[in-house]
Amino acid sequence: MSEVLLEKPADGIAVVRLNRPEVRNALNLTVRDLLAKHFTDLGNDADTRCIILTGGDKVFAAGADIRDMVDRTPIEVMARRDLWKPIASCPKPVIAAVNGYALGGGCELAMHADIIVAGEGASFGQPEVRIGIMPGAGGTQRLTRAVGKFRAMRMLLTGEPVTARDALAMGLVSEVVADAEVFQTALRIAKTIVSMPPLAVMQIKEVTLAGQDASLEAAMILERKAFQLLFSTTDQKEGMRAFLEKRKPEFRGR
Ligand code: HXC
Repeated sequence: MSEVLLEKPADGIAVVRLNRPEVRNALNLTVRDLLAKHFTDLGNDADTRCIILTGGDKVFAAGADIRDMVDRTPIEVMARRDLWKPIASCPKPVIAAVNGYALGGGCELAMHADIIVAGEGASFGQPEVRIGIMPGAGGTQRLTRAVGKFRAMRMLLTGEPVTARDALAMGLVSEVVADAEVFQTALRIAKTIVSMPPLAVMQIKEVTLAGQDASLEAAMILERKAFQLLFSTTDQKEGMRAFLEKRKPEFRGR
């Protein structure tokens, strides 16, 4: 069985499921290659409108595979192509459904998502410092942007994880639900997103992420241009007319 499974539970929704439970879904090179491939394909697939990323109901991911890394040389590490890029640049909304541990590269993987639904028993941490390294896929950067310097530093410098509740209070997750409801909650959110006009959804994701790294002024220009662009879509006409005519809109992605 593949170490990353691809499922299609409903129209427009793809599920990417890590499948190495015996090693807590540690991200070896095979898994990372498959993640990059699936996210590239799903990003290009017109029928896919939202992606759920999960590790199943026990563990999200315990980080990069330490066995894979222990004897690596700097040149070998450097020579790897950036397998995170296809996930980071995926134009479709990504929801991480997190049960159990999301540690190291696992926490960084969750932070590549746009929405994180966590179970009560989930925990998030960047324990790399304990094994002599540091985060390498956004732990120092995405985490700090999400929770601020002082909470990020506490996690990064001690390696201590935080609970789902603490993660919610910090702004590291979107929502905490009972462990048994994580996937269904993610699916419900995905279905809502899929019912929205796809071009508006894609513009919202693109502008929100690009704007985070720009000045407020530049980001506001980006937002305004994307806002104006959406007036060229039939979905804008349909959405507004449907509201005025008190009926359900029929969005076509055009
Ligand atoms: C390789 C791992 C692993 C990992 C767990 N395993 N995490 N193997 N890489 N990251 C393996 C264990 O060796 C063990 O294999 C099996 O999974 C079960 O693990 P246990 O420790 O027995 O399970 P448990 O007691 O439930 O503890 C779970 C755990 C712990 C808290 C998640 O395994 C743990 O601390 N793992 C390491 C977490 C970590 O340091 N992550 C950061 C990695 S560095 P056997 O053969 O004994 O059954 C990183 C850098 C990212 O992520 C850089 C991005 C570019």
